[in-house]
Amino acid sequence: MRPSSRSLSLVAVGFVLGWSVCAAAQPPEEFRKRRDAVRAKMEPGSVLVLRGAARVGESFRQENNLLYLTGINEPNTALVLYGPRPEPQIPAEIKAELPDGFRLPPPPTEVLYIQPSAPQARPAPGAVPPAARLTRPGFDTVRAWQDFQEAFEAILTRGAGTSLSLSATGADGPQPPPVVYVDLQRSRRLLDPLTSDEQWLRAARDRGANVAFRSASALVRPLRAVKSPAEIERITAAMTITGAAQREAMRAAKPGMFEYQLQAVIEHVFLINGARRPAFASIIGSGPNGIILHWSENTRQTQPGDMVVMDVGAEYDLYAADITRTIPISGTFTTRQRDIYETVLRANQEAIAMIAPGVAMREINARVNGILTEGLLRLGLIKDKGELRKYYTHGLSHGVGLQVHDVGEGVLQAGMVLTIEPGLYIPEEATGVRIEDTVLVTEGGHKVLSADVPKAVAEIEALMRQDGIDYSRYLVNKKVDSRQ
Ligand code: GLY
Ligand code: MN
Ligand code: MN
Repeated sequence: MRPSSRSLSLVAVGFVLGWSVCAAAQPPEEFRKRRDAVRAKMEPGSVLVLRGAARVGESFRQENNLLYLTGINEPNTALVLYGPRPEPQIPAEIKAELPDGFRLPPPPTEVLYIQPSAPQARPAPGAVPPAARLTRPGFDTVRAWQDFQEAFEAILTRGAGTSLSLSATGADGPQPPPVVYVDLQRSRRLLDPLTSDEQWLRAARDRGANVAFRSASALVRPLRAVKSPAEIERITAAMTITGAAQREAMRAAKPGMFEYQLQAVIEHVFLINGARRPAFASIIGSGPNGIILHWSENTRQTQPGDMVVMDVGAEYDLYAADITRTIPISGTFTTRQRDIYETVLRANQEAIAMIAPGVAMREINARVNGILTEGLLRLGLIKDKGELRKYYTHGLSHGVGLQVHDVGEGVLQAGMVLTIEPGLYIPEEATGVRIEDTVLVTEGGHKVLSADVPKAVAEIEALMRQDGIDYSRYLVNKKVDSRQ
């Protein structure tokens, strides 16, 4: 379909205004390379099965491992990958009948199952409608979703492929059962009814299936730790939007605002920039709520003098961002707030300065723990070095990618994207401070993807003096804003 002249003019306006957040589609070869990398790790004769997420109400978000390997964000999708398989053998009596050099075509190395897309064009009256499409770029073998259930059952009950049997005894003596990599949903408690996966498994075993189950996720997830240029482009876009939202929230913030109003400013900037949903529930924790790590009710009205933790991230083209800034709602830090804040800031900055390929997160953690402990002693909050965890109650870092809490590894490599997010949480002072940046590990060291969001005390105070979005003009119920 050609773009309408209206959408063309919107594109033109966007261009003139400098809307620059966009990323070219990831090429099918990128996904194929990822699948090849998974296959290279699979046991000979094994099968890997990834089933897509189900649609929940109106919203749909693909299971991340399947998305990573296919780029397909549609319901009713599954992928079957085959590990190395011996060439199919032709029985001697049949071979004798065949021309010299005849070989069976190799079995597929992968099969994609999708919901066939409906033909777009309406057929002319009386014409036979075109068949639904069953192709996807980069995939040689695509089958209809309706066939997946049967194929999966066949894998579970007959083994990995044509040349493997589930029998425990082969010509060379007892054989180990073929390996099937799959993520089965399991019930956490013995007393709970069986999940449908467990029922399936039981039925398969009742029919004599004897396969060794391994986690598909354990095979795929480590590959996701190092991001490709196309992935970095998407994370950077999500970060750029989130940075703009954080800056706008700093300009708009005023005492008396409700936490959800700061959330509205932030998510407004997300949407305006085409980030159609947050990567996680926005956390706006003012005063005592700043101590609650994943506070996302955002219902409290801020009071003059509060510190406000704003931990937010846009999702852009399925990739996440994650940035936390902590601001004084009144626009200036008190001396005490500044002392606490600058302890956390130092931990944040020194941790980031250490990021480079080959560095172990353990070393960075040790440095941060040292700085925070020293700070707590100086602030008079602890008397003993062993008390750090009283006020620093979470981890320093996690990977960022398709998920906000993405795959992370112990030793840094170029291409990893991770957060650095030290914090101090002081219930007796109703004060929480967290400063979180998302950082790309580069060959030469690192690049802070949230570098354009102020975090020095003077920079924050300067930005808060600027005028921000005047959200009060949209308020229809004056009672919700005490400043009216
Ligand atoms: N936004 C959640 C976190 O920082 O881990
Ligand atoms: Mn985080
Ligand atoms: Mn965060």
